Amino acid sequence: MNRKLLSIMTLALLVASVSFAAAPGAADTYKSKCATCHGPDGKGATAIGKSMKIRDLSSAEVQKQSDADLEKIISDGKGKMPAYKTKLSVADVSSLVAFIRGLAKH
Ligand code: HEC
Repeated sequence: MNRKLLSIMTLALLVASVSFAAAPGAADTYKSKCATCHGPDGKGATAIGKSMKIRDLSSAEVQKQSDADLEKIISDGKGKMPAYKTKLSVADVSSLVAFIRGLAKH
């Protein structure tokens, strides 16, 4: 294999890994943007969560809301919950709602 081909392949690998890091799944987004307040399991058992009296995301009170309700809270914020519409795409927000639905099953 010649050097030029090798460097092209290295570059392609680099580009692939960078684009992978730029498009994290909902679990990663949740972990980096939401878990500080809501806790890794959504129960809000963090210092911030307790002081803000955040409801358990896996609880029936939260889960009974529609996907649209939850998407709106994440996009527009609510009380001390920050708005994410400028930071996350519509697809990210809906995949976070799916992630929150998954928390209920545990
Ligand atoms: C700075 C702390 C903080 C961060 C970060 C945060 N939230 Fe919240 N979140 C809150 C608070 C406080 C509430 C309760 C708002 C209220 O009811 O007044 C809340 C409420 C919610 C609710 C509605 C729960 C209910 O009681 O009906 C959802 C869903 C939610 N957050 C999802 C998320 C997601 C997804 C992220 C990450 C993209 C996130 N939150 C990041 C503080 C935070």
